Amino acid sequence: MAEKKLSGEVYYPSKEVLEYANAKCESLYEFASKDPVAFWESEAKNLYWSKPWTKVLDDSNKPFYKWFVGAETNIAYNCLDVHVKTARRNKLALIWEGENGEFRSFSYFALHRETCRFANVLRSLGVKKGDRVTLYMGRIPELMIGMLACARIGAIHSVVYGGFSVEALHERLEDSQSKVLIVADGSFQRGKIVELKKIADEALQRAATVESVLVVKRTGHQINMEFGRDMWYHELMNLPIANNNECLEMVDAEHPLFLLYTSGTTGKPKAILHTHGGYMVGTYTTLKYVFDIHEEDRYWCAADPGWITGHSYIVYGPLLNGATSFMYEGAPNYPYPHRWWQMIEKYGINILYTAPTAIRGLMRFGDAWPNRYNLASLRLLGSVGEPINPEAWRWYYKVIGKERCPIMDTWWQTETGMFMITPMPCTPLKPGSGTKPFPGIVADVVDENGNPVKPNEEGYLVIKTPWPSMLRTIWNDPDRYVNQYWSKYPGMYMTGDSARKDEDGYFWVIGRVDDVIKVSGYRLGTAEIESALVSHPAVAEAAAIGLPHELKGNAIHCFVLLKTGYEKSDKLVDELKQHVAHEVGPIAKPEHIEIVDSLPKTRSGKIMRRVLKARALGIDPGNLSTLEE
Ligand code: PRX
Repeated sequence: MAEKKLSGEVYYPSKEVLEYANAKCESLYEFASKDPVAFWESEAKNLYWSKPWTKVLDDSNKPFYKWFVGAETNIAYNCLDVHVKTARRNKLALIWEGENGEFRSFSYFALHRETCRFANVLRSLGVKKGDRVTLYMGRIPELMIGMLACARIGAIHSVVYGGFSVEALHERLEDSQSKVLIVADGSFQRGKIVELKKIADEALQRAATVESVLVVKRTGHQINMEFGRDMWYHELMNLPIANNNECLEMVDAEHPLFLLYTSGTTGKPKAILHTHGGYMVGTYTTLKYVFDIHEEDRYWCAADPGWITGHSYIVYGPLLNGATSFMYEGAPNYPYPHRWWQMIEKYGINILYTAPTAIRGLMRFGDAWPNRYNLASLRLLGSVGEPINPEAWRWYYKVIGKERCPIMDTWWQTETGMFMITPMPCTPLKPGSGTKPFPGIVADVVDENGNPVKPNEEGYLVIKTPWPSMLRTIWNDPDRYVNQYWSKYPGMYMTGDSARKDEDGYFWVIGRVDDVIKVSGYRLGTAEIESALVSHPAVAEAAAIGLPHELKGNAIHCFVLLKTGYEKSDKLVDELKQHVAHEVGPIAKPEHIEIVDSLPKTRSGKIMRRVLKARALGIDPGNLSTLEE
């Protein structure tokens, strides 16, 4: 592969990188392209199964694919118990630094012990296999322990990002019918306390299924504890019920592992369902080859465990590989823009995986901040969440990676569970391109009719064959699963992204083609922002669109029609912005709200966001034949 001359700006891997890498590109691609199912099967054999599969892939009921049919395993057992039985027992599984400088670390032995104890606590509270447990906290070790404890007993975890607010949490508790909520008293964000428990109390007023609330003490500020419902995590963990008994249940490979809510084209956020077996094989394999995990590495994925990146590549992927993961609680530039670089030097981080928005944010403070630190431990860099602009790529490559560290630009989604289009260290790189599909993945760019487009033409990004860590369904809504992902082109998974493929077969993801807005890499739906706006008494109708933003990638712009009796004012605009932040979360706070007299609609009453966007950008809105006068 490295021998072929590629077009454009290309960065070839060095001899050292090639020799050290786990993945030998050519042989992996060759094996996987001949027989993807055999490739996944060979990787699955590196993991522990208490009962073997009778078939690797069952595609008899498309698109409800099943992987590792008949097998039994438990992902948490593979994350912890397997290592505790080896010399990895004393290896650090997790190194954690709080925003306030606090430090904690867990060996595999300790993480296993804490997880078993907490699993016993959950069981004693009546949590059974298949029950849903919601977790709502910042980036702290207890989030990891809670997720793994659920997995051990076959309960289904649903992590709600700690930056979400009342309505978002309420909706997710309600939809998942969670029995238990695990929440922190608060979290630190830029030196301030985010009052997580207070937000949860408000959300719980309307969430009838929650029987117990377990509260992790993080910030230590005064909170309300409701008698009979709320219990302190640390108190429960000191009771005899929190014993070290193994507390493990082997489950069917297709048993649900977690729900993760994400924004879709219309309506409320949907819960994407992932399972123990296939998700385990996918995250294990991709992390091993893409971030090239070696025994001595210290790997840092700077995402939040509340998003899929954190699920797959802070919690499950690293632990499955027996890696040492680093987790940092706070903001990248708190108290100063050197924070990340200081921690890379202090902990000797070898692999850094983050998002373009963070890179752009840190880049703007200049090179002097990273240059004050010794970043020589870094070996590989990564990017995820949105397309990375070539300027940010080059800065990351030169100033952070010192032109030694290849950048893994990983394209994937909550739904895919694992990296789908991504380089490996052996891949020649082009800034801004995710390069090629991972071995075993068949992706393409197609036109309206599902036919492949010509090189460099824009089209829809699709996946043409199933993969082990694919979503299995949308919780409570299998029809939506079929319609949303599999109905436009039967047999092909519709990603919702547009892309082009260049003359070398390299993929360039352009962005969403639906009503999803990526703000600083976070995925938000126009519908969530609009319904938050119309829940304000002054608002009759609202439309939200994403417009390009230098740091955030996209920023939210809203158009609002007021109810009669309400007057346009700056004060009201501010109030509406705050209202969205309160309902959905600070990340959804609109950049700009314009009060308008009318909204462009189709004759059937659908708001034409495309027209609003074209107007705002001063470009041609395209076909207006369906626009109502
Ligand atoms: O538009 C793509 C963008 O993020 C979307 C998925 O968002 P989410 O489910 O929140 O998962 C994000 C983390 C995996 C995709 O449909 N996206 C993600 N990674 C990239 C990207 N766009 C371009 N390049 C990427 N590397």
